[in-house]
Amino acid sequence: MSVLGKPPAGDELLAEIQRLKEERNAVILAHYYQKPEIQDLADFVGDSLDLSRKAAATDAEVIAFCGVRFMAETAKILSPEKTVILPDMDAGCSLEDSCPPDQFKAFREAHPDHIALTYINCSAEVKALSDIIVTSSSAQQILDQIPLDQPIIFGPDRHLGGYLARKSGRDMLLWPGICIVHQAFSETELLKLKAEHPGAPVAAHPECPPHIIDHADHVGSTSSILKFCSETDSDTVLVATEPHIIHQMEKARPDKTFIGVPGGDGNCNCNMCPYMALNTLEKLYVALRDLEPRIEMSDELMDAARLPLQRMLDMAGGTVGMGDVGKPLFKKD
Ligand code: 13P
Ligand code: SF4
Repeated sequence: MSVLGKPPAGDELLAEIQRLKEERNAVILAHYYQKPEIQDLADFVGDSLDLSRKAAATDAEVIAFCGVRFMAETAKILSPEKTVILPDMDAGCSLEDSCPPDQFKAFREAHPDHIALTYINCSAEVKALSDIIVTSSSAQQILDQIPLDQPIIFGPDRHLGGYLARKSGRDMLLWPGICIVHQAFSETELLKLKAEHPGAPVAAHPECPPHIIDHADHVGSTSSILKFCSETDSDTVLVATEPHIIHQMEKARPDKTFIGVPGGDGNCNCNMCPYMALNTLEKLYVALRDLEPRIEMSDELMDAARLPLQRMLDMAGGTVGMGDVGKPLFKKD
């Protein structure tokens, strides 16, 4: 915490964050896995793709990113002239940790005919070593634009990669990373919930392992799960993703019941992301006050990582051409 003293509490804390936000000309972006009080204060709450788009388009001078580090890095890469702050710099991601850049580089070099389609949940260094970045909401659409005879490495999430491979019938070389949160969902607990709530659909994130996905009625990104939950006719939905998103579901449909699938034996909090949980209102206040912790990367790294990110934005926008990123990766038929 800063030498400037302790943050205020309660309503004063909320008012001070608003005041600092205006003073700094800042925008607060938050992921659906953030604590409800952060989601409620944010200017925009979204999934990884929506947040990348917002970061690329904002006029604000400061982006206060309430999410994890790879998301804040993405915001900085897409808006390098902005100051990007993250309330807690230790807010990492197990998928990022599972993919050290030197090992990923060696893997790529061992498969020179493959392109690297890489999940956004990775370091800026791994992005710089990749051809196209995807999010869970854009992965299928982007994969469909890659010629069928093009060999592909997909990393670092083997469950998202495996899900896409099964759905598309394409054989991709998968990096063996996992999300510790989605990996922990218990099939036993899910089956108990299904028995207690007969007919309740299951909505799951594709970071879940196949034994959870196999029970799902809807599989998609956080925004797609939120849409499904808001639109379903069912009174109760079983939610197999990080449970802080239930806050948005309850706001959208207060008439329905949303039940988070537990992790482990159902008695732990292991379905909650420990990295996302590091951000608090107090740390957000300090970050806006001090403009620290700040995301900093070399221009060289940002330039290299921007290319595959820009391809994602272009391809997710529905255009097969590569927009302003120069040479297309694939020949058009
Ligand atoms: P999306 O919000 O893009 O679905 O990603 C979920 C996630 O794991 C964020 O870390
Ligand atoms: Fe990473 Fe999983 Fe947390 Fe998302 S939920 S930030 S993938 S550890």
